[in-house]
Amino acid sequence: MSTATKKRTSGIPFDWQARTRLVYGAGSIENVGHLARQVGVKNALIVTDAGVAAAGHAARVRAAFEASGMPVAVYEDVHENPTSSDAEACAAVARKIGADAFVGVGGGSSLDTAKAASFLVTNGGAMPDYRGYAKVKRPLLPNIAIPTTAGTGSECQSYALISDDETHVKMACGDPSAAPVLAVLDPELSRSMPRRVTALTGVDAISHAVESAVTRTRHAASSMLAREAFRRLAPAIPRTLESPDDLMVRGDALLGSAFAGSAIELSMLGAAHASANPLTAVHDVAHGQAVGVMLPGVVRMNAADPVIEAIYEDLVIAAKLDSIPVGGRTRDTSGDAATSAGERLARYLEDLLAAAGLATSLEDLGVPRDDAARLARDAAEQWTGGHNPRPVSISDFEALYASTWPRKERLAS
Ligand SMILES: [Fe+2]
Repeated sequence: MSTATKKRTSGIPFDWQARTRLVYGAGSIENVGHLARQVGVKNALIVTDAGVAAAGHAARVRAAFEASGMPVAVYEDVHENPTSSDAEACAAVARKIGADAFVGVGGGSSLDTAKAASFLVTNGGAMPDYRGYAKVKRPLLPNIAIPTTAGTGSECQSYALISDDETHVKMACGDPSAAPVLAVLDPELSRSMPRRVTALTGVDAISHAVESAVTRTRHAASSMLAREAFRRLAPAIPRTLESPDDLMVRGDALLGSAFAGSAIELSMLGAAHASANPLTAVHDVAHGQAVGVMLPGVVRMNAADPVIEAIYEDLVIAAKLDSIPVGGRTRDTSGDAATSAGERLARYLEDLLAAAGLATSLEDLGVPRDDAARLARDAAEQWTGGHNPRPVSISDFEALYASTWPRKERLAS
């Protein structure tokens, strides 16, 4: 680092250039063939899953490519939580047709399979070879991301999350060239999401904004993205549950998810993701549910730090959190004004979970109370916990699980 950047200045020094061109708008996928041509694509492979294909989204993307005079093949065998073998199956098809680009259409699994296949086509080997960051010898093929869910933010990230075939442990495989060159955000595509998927992905997206806003590695750019993501997501996610066809709120959810994904790329995540991952691995709890149930406790824990409490206050004010109706009715925020911003944020998150029909306690999820010690040991090994603003020990995680276990009286009605 140069002498100049060592000098004391406002906040953590950073070096940021957005790698992904974002194109947003209802109906914007109609233009994807033209946009792909602009980034030099001639022979792309669309990567999607059977559900997204059945909804007609892959066919619309294919038609848009063909309207631009470009041939395009479709691979629709993506599985949830894709493994290294799944990536290899997709890569084999890409090699067969001589694809020069991937177009991921769907949720995080489709986008990550497209990225992972690109690692294998360009550099050979298997996905465990690329665990970590920048392990490739040759840059990946161009990748275009078309998300149909508002959740992972994978469209703005240079990592693919791929499960090991044997252990099913998730590997983060990253490279600067794995970031999509183009992401097309078309809110019309996300209208087909079932309510439960909307709830799970929406809660995950909000958790990305809340966690990335306060990490130890946050800086001016990541804070800007996380704050704007939360400002859009906090009112939009409860409204997507009430009015799933409303393009305005679907658009805010999609934008918020992409901005939160960009914030993660810069400043990572925290203790809610660290404590959620063992719930998924050991008890098969869906990711959005696992993060959602842990986040209120993490917010309360982090809010004890006055610097973090001030950031939460900024988020609460930016989103006008106390006036957001959740579950179709005005929330009971009586007394909230006298309460800390962290507590108000935690209550909003619990109300959102309840309104979305998701569990608000580990008891509701059927997690045995005496599992806390084992889960805490696993959580402490998650690398993302190291980015949490307050250090989290095994006993802190155990206390976090214990406080998240009982049913919440406030939400009983
Ligand atoms: Fe997440």
